[in-house]
Amino acid sequence: MIFQKFSSNTTLLTEIARKIANSLAAAVNKRGYASLAVSGGTTPMPMFEALSRIDLDWDKVVVSLVDERWIDVSEKDSNENLVRSHLLKNKAAAATFIGMKTAAVTAFEGEKECAELLKRIPMPYDVIVLGMGGDGHTASLFPGAAKFSAAVDMASGHTCMAIAPVTAAHERLTLTLPAILNAREIIVHISGAEKRQVYEQAISAGPMEEMPIRYILRQKKVPVTVYWAP
Ligand code: 6PG
Repeated sequence: MIFQKFSSNTTLLTEIARKIANSLAAAVNKRGYASLAVSGGTTPMPMFEALSRIDLDWDKVVVSLVDERWIDVSEKDSNENLVRSHLLKNKAAAATFIGMKTAAVTAFEGEKECAELLKRIPMPYDVIVLGMGGDGHTASLFPGAAKFSAAVDMASGHTCMAIAPVTAAHERLTLTLPAILNAREIIVHISGAEKRQVYEQAISAGPMEEMPIRYILRQKKVPVTVYWAP
């Protein structure tokens, strides 16, 4: 794992967008296509904007999500809405988007159909971008949620799972841990003093299930780079 510290958020944004674009371009050169899965929340918005302006064979790129809140995609908290409004524009408008939200009433009812949708994404993911919550969650792997242990079970055979967090709003669908670790590369994007503290706690000793980001930071299967700026 590599920790990259930037003096300003502006430099971080330029660097992280460049890094993602380079990895996608290398994948397109090698295989003719690339896949990217991104997180929601507030942190990635300016990074999406920067990435959307980068020249790339976007028509050969599939963009998808690591998790989705089970609300209508027209609502502002929807991750699909976030990606459509801030990433799938400018040059990146040519990318193909595969979301997670279906017409099912609950995330639990939508689980199977979502797994079918995910089959359309070229695997393994070339790049997965993760965020981290103040409670150490990543994607929608929330500590203490019912079904949490199934979502981090490396032998489950599931790519996505419905989860009802106790520490955040909305039922969610999340990529499972084995699906996240089926990536060629993982980028963790965090900013601010509070997240730095959470990160320091995550890299120190303690049970993985208390801070799910530890499942990402402590594994050796996939290269991880953490990007942080104050
Ligand atoms: C989501 C996420 C989630 C997010 C963190 C950090 O949809 O909620 O994918 O894992 O990355 O909660 O969110 P912030 O960037 O808003 O702090």
